Amino acid sequence: MSVNNRTELLRKIKEEIITLKKSPLYAERVKNKVFPVIGEGSHNSQIMFVGEAPGKNEAATGRPFCGASGKILDELLDSAGIKRQDVYVTNIVKDRPPFNRDPLPEEIRVYGPFLDRQIEIIQPAVIATLGRFSMDYVMRKFSLEHLLQPISKMHGKVFEAETSYGKIKIVPLYHPAVAVYNANSKDELKKDFQVLKEFN
Ligand code: URA
Repeated sequence: MSVNNRTELLRKIKEEIITLKKSPLYAERVKNKVFPVIGEGSHNSQIMFVGEAPGKNEAATGRPFCGASGKILDELLDSAGIKRQDVYVTNIVKDRPPFNRDPLPEEIRVYGPFLDRQIEIIQPAVIATLGRFSMDYVMRKFSLEHLLQPISKMHGKVFEAETSYGKIKIVPLYHPAVAVYNANSKDELKKDFQVLKEFN
């Protein structure tokens, strides 16, 4: 698929989410005059990062990982020699859950199909999940639920799966926010990110 086609299909997703009145988070978005966060980066990236849901800064700007967690993500990418503009970054849930609470199953059910379409459009060689919600969703999506364990056992490992467009690798990673609250965990995160170097 050409980059132009990809961009057009991604724009369609954006339009659908902007008017997604059936989402439990739609009314909150309108009330707070904030934005959905669709995703950002290269439309023909080999690496797709999937976070959880937008936080305050993300909803205010419409851009993924642009607050404290984003700063850590940039540092982790840098440590692996990966440029942010060369990868695609998105979340499962595209609107901010109130008070940054965990996404609810109903929210994941509503927004999950948009992530599925983003994967089909961008066709990454590797999906790096950030945090347990996206790990859970992506592993299940590719029928790898039998391999699911707590993220403390999964992080940094590489799993293989089949997609409609060929093979894909899934790399569960800790959410960068872990390092916002515990600076010591940054070294472990950096170590895990080295796994992504070969896909860059
Ligand atoms: N946390 C996420 O999971 N996603 C963002 O975009 C920002 C913070």
